[in-house]
Amino acid sequence: MVIKRVLVTGGAGYIGSHTCIELLKEGYEVICADNFTNSSTVALQRVEQIAGRPIPTYTVDFCSKEQVKRLFELEKIDATIHFAGHKAVGESIEKPLMYYENNLVSLMNLCEALGRTKAKNIVFSSSATVYGFSESLPLTEETPTSAHNAYGRTKLYIEEILRDLAASHPGWNISILRYFNPVGAHSSGLIGEDPNGIPNNLMPYISQVAVGRLEKLRVFGSDYDTPDGTGVRDFIHVVDLARGHVAALRKLRENPGYMIHNLGTGKGCSVLELVRAFERINKVRVPYELVGRRPGDVAENYADTSKAKKELGWEATHTIEDMVRDTWRWQTRNPHGYKKIQDRLPAVMFKPINPAYLPKENMRFIVPSGQPRQQEVPHPPANR
Ligand SMILES: NC(=O)c1ccc[n+]([C@@H]2O[C@H](COP(=O)([O-])OP(=O)(O)OC[C@H]3O[C@@H](n4cnc5c(N)ncnc54)[C@H](O)[C@@H]3O)[C@@H](O)[C@H]2O)c1
Repeated sequence: MVIKRVLVTGGAGYIGSHTCIELLKEGYEVICADNFTNSSTVALQRVEQIAGRPIPTYTVDFCSKEQVKRLFELEKIDATIHFAGHKAVGESIEKPLMYYENNLVSLMNLCEALGRTKAKNIVFSSSATVYGFSESLPLTEETPTSAHNAYGRTKLYIEEILRDLAASHPGWNISILRYFNPVGAHSSGLIGEDPNGIPNNLMPYISQVAVGRLEKLRVFGSDYDTPDGTGVRDFIHVVDLARGHVAALRKLRENPGYMIHNLGTGKGCSVLELVRAFERINKVRVPYELVGRRPGDVAENYADTSKAKKELGWEATHTIEDMVRDTWRWQTRNPHGYKKIQDRLPAVMFKPINPAYLPKENMRFIVPSGQPRQQEVPHPPANR
């Protein structure tokens, strides 16, 4: 099977934008579709700048059956990488229906459209959150799954829906990738994680403290049974993660049916180790205070990555030092993320390849965009 044209849903988001670059580097044609509720078109302009190629982009809400159908009428797609979805654990506890609707309906609309094509090939963004509170480490793809919030349940339900689909027709090829803790940014400093409001995740929180946007980091729990008492997680550089998708796509060519792989480094790093690495490498201070444990957090969590290595020929290569250095480069060059930067684009370092960038000339609107960015819900830093 030939896979050449890849649809990236949620391609303007944090992981999607980095994946677009790795796909383009590998010679794939990328078509991007996003409703921009949690992302900026500037991210895609930057991707084009890095890759030196334009990306056909559609404003599509995957919850709209009509829009998804139209997209597939307009574009011939060989495989789809499905990033589009809501992702904040805390928000999902407050607004479970919003999560079920956005994550499940969009997946079902996408699969319905894919089902009408010959290219029933999909890579899905799952999460290590599906391992729930498992204490048996490292976490393998065989570790029993469970979910403890609406976000995690959407990931588990989608994994099961996709399993049923794979069983329903031999034409389906489905790759489930369970991400551990994606951090870092592209080494150019042009794209990175741009959370709305108070970051949900540890690394953007650390970098916003370091840059002076937030006062101090609160470290939840310092009495865990770990080397320094703080929680241990498997942080993975977003570029390694992006390359994991390229590896999964390569595998889909072999008609594997349904497969699940962990994408992590296999190594745990504590919250304080990460903070200290950030300070040491970037020569900045990250004021923090140790506070009580947060309900729902496990002491330690890291992946067994041997299956991805064996079956996908993929393994993470970036170190913690790379992760903190690249995060800081992105943060210092874009202290307010993609916001405001747009005004400064031509003046500063971001010289567009094509002067007709704004408005993006190859952006095709299936529906008028302009939906407001999602409501900001402040949450303490969490590991998804
Ligand atoms: N970042 C993490 O820590 C992490 C960890 C595990 C899994 N994941 C999963 O990976 C995927 C990508 O995560 P991310 O960090 O890049 O998130 P992100 O919010 O940066 O990207 C998601 C993108 O999807 C878009 N989107 C959301 N709903 C949509 C819809 N209905 N139609 C069209 N576009 C829509 C958003 O505008 C955004 O551009 C998500 O599914 C997330 O659950 C992320």
